[in-house]
Formats: sequence, structure tokens, C-alpha cells
Amino acid sequence: MALNNIAIIGAGTMGGGIAIGCMAAGLSTCVIDLNKDSLATVQARSAKFFNRMVEKEKITQEQADDAQRKLMVSNELSAVSQADLVIEAIFENLEIKRDLFTRITPDLRSEAIVATNTSALRVADLATALPAPERFVGLHYFSPAEVNPLVELIAGPATSHAVIAEAAAFLATTGKTALPCQDANGFAVNRFFCPYTNEAVRIVDEQLATPGQVDRIACETFELAIGPFSVMNIVKPRINLNAVQNLSGLGAFYAPAAGLIEVGQAEGSFEIEESPAELDDTAAHAITTRLRAALFLPVLEAIGEGVAAPDDFDLGARLALRFGHPPVTAMRALGRDQVEEMVSALAQQYGADLPESGLEKVFA
Ligand SMILES: NC(=O)c1ccc[n+]([C@@H]2O[C@H](COP(=O)([O-])OP(=O)(O)OC[C@H]3O[C@@H](n4cnc5c(N)ncnc54)[C@H](O)[C@@H]3O)[C@@H](O)[C@H]2O)c1
Repeated sequence: MALNNIAIIGAGTMGGGIAIGCMAAGLSTCVIDLNKDSLATVQARSAKFFNRMVEKEKITQEQADDAQRKLMVSNELSAVSQADLVIEAIFENLEIKRDLFTRITPDLRSEAIVATNTSALRVADLATALPAPERFVGLHYFSPAEVNPLVELIAGPATSHAVIAEAAAFLATTGKTALPCQDANGFAVNRFFCPYTNEAVRIVDEQLATPGQVDRIACETFELAIGPFSVMNIVKPRINLNAVQNLSGLGAFYAPAAGLIEVGQAEGSFEIEESPAELDDTAAHAITTRLRAALFLPVLEAIGEGVAAPDDFDLGARLALRFGHPPVTAMRALGRDQVEEMVSALAQQYGADLPESGLEKVFA
């Protein structure tokens, strides 16, 4: 069944972006939020988005008008009743999300698919709030969702193969690339993105470099347009802290850095100097090694756990985070001996095991 009628619950940062992507693909898009101001924001945001597309001559005025006509808004949850696919993008709270699923259940079409955009909760823990968990799936978008091409596609324990296929077809229709991954903490991308940003903060906490210096080295090492501190300032350190904390049960290595806790809890931003001083080669090399190891260790652990395939970690890094030199490619370029040396030193420091199974798969 083609998914042509989409309902998005939650008209915030993510719901608004997901809606614009659906409208651009010509799908009937109903955005539902209990807060009328959020709904007005989505209307204004989508108008601005499509007007800019016309200004940039990417679409015609007629196409922009067609896309805008696809948008409906409602502050009634019963507006899900026409939907083939309902995408939940409300506050990140297990009880609030489960309560929403209970409340929409009477109005859902029997064949409707329900998806969650959760970043940190388990699809499995949400699925049981619905009477048909086989029709429930995780669709984890990345911000800004209207343009970021990657979506992690997560099956819960009961999700049917047919529903995964329908969700994958929907993503393709809306121009997204699906990264199939397991229902694991941080899924695939946040599993390594969070420790990598966290390590950047630890380096600054230890006064080995400034945020600007770390950003510059990261950009050179991984062929990035912007470094970890600049990304954290865009995401907001508070949100990044939450995402890092979500992984902290995985072991001491994943515990949030003191500087991230401080800036995140204060709802502040990192100060990044515009023209960072050059570091000497030895200091710069030490920081490169720290950043690489902090990226490689979680990728190898997650590959060993079967969270996603090695090449899919690179896909996620390239598409969602714009790594020109993504982690698995970077490991293969360095070779197993060098990777094993840096990763085992880091694992040992935090009392973790060497991720041998991941190493086997990457260097098979
Ligand atoms: N912000 C990100 O970068 C990002 C990235 C990926 C995933 N996510 C996830 O997406 C979800 C939404 O995040 P966000 O940043 O868009 O949040 P947000 O705070 O910007 O928006 C949430 C919206 O949900 C509405 N809402 C809350 N409870 C509701 C309910 N019971 N019924 C209807 N509407 C309700 C709120 O009024 C608000 O407009 C969260 O689960 C978050 O973890 C966020």
C-alpha cells in the first residue's frame, strides 16, 4: 500500500521539518499539535521554505503553491483518522509518548502504520502502547529534517517485514535514504556522534586545546565543514548533553564530560575563537589520535553488536553529519594495527573490552 496520507503529531523542530519533506513530495500532510502557536509556526516555516525554493529557482511558483496546498493543521488528535502513516514527533518522554499512542488508537485506520521519531527511547518500549505493534516502526530523522537526507529505520521486536518495506518506500518517495539499524541506544549515528563530541569537550576540559583548535583538527582529520563544537552549538549543548547521557549506561567511556554537563545544564553555548592559534605537530597529532579513537571505539562496538553494517555507519556519517572521511573508511585507510593500537588504549583507559568482533567485520 502506498502511504499517501501522512499525519505528523508534534509541530516542533522535527515535526515541522518532516512535514515540509512530505509536502515537497506531494503527499497529503496533516500536522497535529495541541499548541496552536506551534501549528502557526509550521505554516509560516513551510511558506518560507517553499518561497526560498522559488527564489533559488529550484521549483516554480506553481510547484510551491501545490506543495503548500498539501498542508493541513489540526489541534485534534482525531485528525489521524485519514492517515496511512502517523509519525510521532512530540516531547522525548516515554510516558507522554505512550499516552499519546493510547489516545490515538481509537481513531487509527486498521491498516495505518505508526512511526516514532524518538532519539533516545527504545522502539520496543513504545510499541507495546499500541494494539498492533507489528505496524509500529522507528523513523529517526536528523535536523534539519526538511533537508537532511538520512533517516534511521528501526524495526521493533514485532515490526513486520511488510511494514519495514512500506516505511522504506515512503522514505524513498520523500527523497530520504534509509539506514536500517537495530533498536539500540543511540541507534547507529548518535552512538558514535555523541562520544566523538564528548571527547572533544574532554580535550578542552584537560586544557590540551581550545574549542577552535579542536574544531579545526577535526575538520582536517574527517574532512568536515564544521567541527564538533560548532555542531554542538547548532544542536544546542543541552540537547547534546541529553543525547550523551542516553548512552552513559554503555560504560564509563560514554559518561558525559564535565564541560558538557556545565554548558548543557546552563543552557549555554561553547565559546569558539575565530582564529585559533596553531598547535605544534605533537600536540595536534595527539588530538587527532584522541578524536579518531573516540570515533572508532563506539563504531567498532556497535558493529560488533550488529547495530548496523560497517558501510552503513559510513553512510550515516556522510549523509547525516557530512563526514568527507567517515569512520570505517578512515579505519581501513589507517590499517588494522594502528586502529587496534589506538582503540585498545582507549578501551583499557575506561575498563572496556577490545571490540574484537567489530574489528573482524571492518577488516574482513
Ligand atoms: N531536535 C532534534 O534535533 C531531534 C532530532 C531527532 C529526533 N528528535 C526527536 O524528535 C522528537 C521531537 O523533538 P523536537 O526537537 O521536534 O521537539 P519540540 O519541543 O521542538 O516539539 C515538540 C512538539 O510536540 C508538541 N507536543 C508535545 N506533547 C504533545 C502531545 N501529547 N500531543 C500533541 N503535540 C504534543 C509540542 O507542543 C511541540 O510543538 C523528540 O522525540 C526528539 O527526541 C529530535
